[in-house]
Amino acid sequence: MFESPTPGANVSSFTQEVTAVNAAVAHEAYTGLTASPKTLTPWLFYDEAGSHLFEQITVLPEYYLTRTERALFAAHADEILEAAGGVQPVTLAELGAGTATKTGILLAAAVRRQASVLYQPIDVSETSVEEARENIERNIPGVVVEPQVANYITEPIRIERPHDARVLALYIGSSIGNFAPDEAVAILRNLRGQLQVGDSLLLGTDLAPGGTHNGGKSVASLLAAYDDAQGVTAAFNRNVLVRLNRELGTNFDLDRFRHRARWNPLASRIEMHLESVGPQTVTLPAGAETPAVPMRFAAGETIHTENSYKFTPAMIAAMLKPACFATSRTFMDAQNLFAVTLATAV
Ligand code: TRP
Repeated sequence: MFESPTPGANVSSFTQEVTAVNAAVAHEAYTGLTASPKTLTPWLFYDEAGSHLFEQITVLPEYYLTRTERALFAAHADEILEAAGGVQPVTLAELGAGTATKTGILLAAAVRRQASVLYQPIDVSETSVEEARENIERNIPGVVVEPQVANYITEPIRIERPHDARVLALYIGSSIGNFAPDEAVAILRNLRGQLQVGDSLLLGTDLAPGGTHNGGKSVASLLAAYDDAQGVTAAFNRNVLVRLNRELGTNFDLDRFRHRARWNPLASRIEMHLESVGPQTVTLPAGAETPAVPMRFAAGETIHTENSYKFTPAMIAAMLKPACFATSRTFMDAQNLFAVTLATAV
């Protein structure tokens, strides 16, 4: 026997939330998969299973991004906090925080400067931000964590400002690289709308191979970071189909889509695709406002699931400027694999 749920505010708001997420997923799937070429939007990756798979990606030997960015934080945390705060206290707010494993380094530096620090992680995955809260409150006394479960692409965000504090906004892990240049600027402008002149942004960006700024990165090593030997990235990519099957009732056959990572030098991005191994038809069931759609795939046809833009210093500057940020310093590792840019809201 099932117990019927007790009617009440919590139950109904939870149901509304689930329905809103579902409608957004249906909308994205419908528009993306009926387009030519077929595409899907990046935030669809980060359901509970996807967020967990991404955590596994960050510790893969091929995935140099996370450990390189972490080393930059470890080397420059005090300088970053000093530049962001000056004589004022800081609050840290993070877009797409996930489980916030790297952020601890910056928060530890913040509590060395001030007794108590408010940390505001914002993420679409509720399980991730809850894990972030537990880890950080347990390991870094003095940090108060106020998580916000929100999709910063489709929903408004709000950043709190304790009395007199400067905001240090974090957008790290090269998450900005998962968006097209115009979308990236829109995200930064939206964030800038929550900030005041003098607040800071710490932006993590993966760097392009080749070029005069870069000695240490080959296209082969870049591709390996997005097509690892253990197949974790392949599982992460395919998980988006698992999600659509579960949440929308599509009938994707997971064995009939291959993970592909390609380097697109003209656009300066890694492209992630799911390639149909043969001709096949997948059905997108009817939604509230959309009819059922048969989606035909030719052999070798792909769903373009994700981009990961790789930046030159000029590309980083070109993205910050229209969003009203001015670079104050840039930190790069010795091999010029990754850049962490501290910018000021102007
Ligand atoms: N921001 C990460 C990146 O671009 C996300 C990511 C890593 C990713 N591996 C991926 C996204 C594989 C899609 C597929 O590096």
